[in-house]
Amino acid sequence: MKNNITWHSQGVSKNEKSSIKNQKPCILWFTGLSGSGKSTIANAVECKLYARNRHTSLLDGDNVRHNLCKDLGFNHSDRTENIRRVGEVAKLMTDNGLIVLTAFISPFMQDRNMVREIFNDNEFIEIFIDTPLEECENRDTKGLYKKARNGELKNYTGIDSPYESPINPEIIIANSKVTVDEASDQVINYLLENKFLTI
Ligand code: ADX
Repeated sequence: MKNNITWHSQGVSKNEKSSIKNQKPCILWFTGLSGSGKSTIANAVECKLYARNRHTSLLDGDNVRHNLCKDLGFNHSDRTENIRRVGEVAKLMTDNGLIVLTAFISPFMQDRNMVREIFNDNEFIEIFIDTPLEECENRDTKGLYKKARNGELKNYTGIDSPYESPINPEIIIANSKVTVDEASDQVINYLLENKFLTI
């Protein structure tokens, strides 16, 4: 497929694009069960980055599945393709100097590692939103756990489809024990400590 395609090099480098934004690009990859709080925390982190004049983009599973990935379902290979596309889009965005936040269940370790590998060293920051299944199910904000338990929804993560917890993520947020403000500060502090943010 790649036979007749040429890679064009471009005149403005990633470094130049990020330095006019005065920032170091990275990807904040939020992973966790449905209802664990990924979108809420990612959104709070983005607000805090905006307040610091950082240039960001937030990709969220529920939204991306309405457009870029609307042809995909929830079997294993569709989830893999979902994550591959999101990883590639996020890579294009970091290549243009943005700090990218993504909120996808991304239940399979191999898929998350596949995305990690397309980024430069240290640029991929995996954030495990560690909320117990019981709590996600109790919240059930979208009513989908109930449907899955009733057998109306198949392949539901945590019910009849697996979630593989990250083994060595850069950040773990025990979301049942902290507020959204504390959780988002945990991410901001990581970015400060690791020099992605200077102020
Ligand atoms: S992923 O597994 O491919 O990463 P993604 O984050 O894009 O999933 O989408 C998850 C969202 O889709 C959930 O928050 C939920 O609202 C909805 N959803 C619908 N069906 C399922 C399902 N079978 N398993 C998990 N989430 C589902």
